[in-house]
Amino acid sequence: MNILILGGGGREHSLAWATLQNPKCDTLFVAPGNAGIAQIATCVSLDIEDGTAVVQFAMAQAIDLVIIGPEAPLAAGVADDLRAADITVFGPSAAAARLESSKRFTKEICAAADAPTAGYAAFTDADAAKAHIRAHGAPIVVKADGLAAGKGVVVAPDEETACAAVDDMLGGAFGQAGAEVVIEEFMTGEEASFFVLCDGQDVLAIGTAQDHKCVGEGDTGANTGGMGAYSPAPVLTDAIANRAIEDIIKPTVAEMARRGTPYQGVLYAGLMIKNGAARLVEYNVRFGDPECQVLMLRLGGQALDLIQACAEGRLGEAKVNWADDHAMTVVLAAKGYPGAYEKGTKIGGLEAQSDTSKRVIFHAGTSRINGDLCANGGRVLNATARAETLRDARDAAYDLVDSVDWPEGFFRRDIGWRAL
Ligand SMILES: Nc1ncnc2c1ncn2[C@@H]1O[C@H](COP(=O)(O)OP(=O)(O)O)[C@@H](O)[C@H]1O
Ligand SMILES: [Mg+2]
Repeated sequence: MNILILGGGGREHSLAWATLQNPKCDTLFVAPGNAGIAQIATCVSLDIEDGTAVVQFAMAQAIDLVIIGPEAPLAAGVADDLRAADITVFGPSAAAARLESSKRFTKEICAAADAPTAGYAAFTDADAAKAHIRAHGAPIVVKADGLAAGKGVVVAPDEETACAAVDDMLGGAFGQAGAEVVIEEFMTGEEASFFVLCDGQDVLAIGTAQDHKCVGEGDTGANTGGMGAYSPAPVLTDAIANRAIEDIIKPTVAEMARRGTPYQGVLYAGLMIKNGAARLVEYNVRFGDPECQVLMLRLGGQALDLIQACAEGRLGEAKVNWADDHAMTVVLAAKGYPGAYEKGTKIGGLEAQSDTSKRVIFHAGTSRINGDLCANGGRVLNATARAETLRDARDAAYDLVDSVDWPEGFFRRDIGWRAL
């Protein structure tokens, strides 16, 4: 098979790595990729949000399968353009991607599907939103409806903070994405991520994970894209996961199909777990980054078979061959991230590392400048390992971290603390 992966982060490096573990893959292109991906696949510069450009490239290279990593090309309808050109693609249509690109839309789907989630109301008018906040009291959650790069949610401890968030969002802080706000009931419990493949009709759970969003140890400090993750998530037991499939995932997929916008791709459900049951926090329409890295290390080459079965509408006959293992990834980021940070600093120590099926350093923001490996983004490397226990996976992941020679980088020492 000739395969094209869209994206250039740690998520896409892990997708590329897993794809290449499968002998089915003959040629692998990644657009735009990064310095780590360039060591294993052919990187191409392509505007991945331009459907016409992606279709043209896929036709010219006789691509059999396109795997879309990030949400932006999905929301832009790149999967629709590929399907219209009869190219097999893993990823939802723009209409189905609204499960991530509109929080109000997801709430409407949940209501129609009777899926458990926080109570909500949606507003375009600030006074009405504030009246709702005063009527319900704090804590309360204010969300920009649209895509806001993980910055569009305020969990407000008091009414003033909530009202200020409303003014901010409706005042244009997030542009069009904040033209409407969703105000939600505050839920308590423990969060976990649940990953399910959907082919429009059938669903197949492929793993659970927990991540660490805060920049600082002990889950303190500013929010980031994620500083580490591990899989499985002990809080998401088989019993809770099965119930989430029946009560949340299947009704969602059925409602999307009923509306004529079937969901195809990976559905990433953020769940809040309490008293043995899960409620939906949000959906994402792609793999999480860095959660994907731990899932791919655990799945290995079968990930391609599952993704292909999903893209071809054959999930009903697919099975996951579970290894009874644990994986952890630790993110190395540039000092200053998620605020301002330096680019172009040199990274050493990786030459001594050879990837195995149990330990891989996935690259995120890296590039090669005059032959030197350099940092080119906020989140830069993902030291990822798997083992029989989470403790051993953690020790192996931190061994990898310690092998990296990058004085301008930092990482959290406490990834997995909740589960350990
Ligand atoms: N209704 C809620 N109750 C409690 N916490 C919430 C609620 N909604 C969101 N959160 C918290 O805010 C975080 C971000 O919200 P989420 O809906 O996942 O938005 P996004 O990931 O798009 O920023 C969640 O991971 C969760 O910790
Ligand atoms: Mg989220």
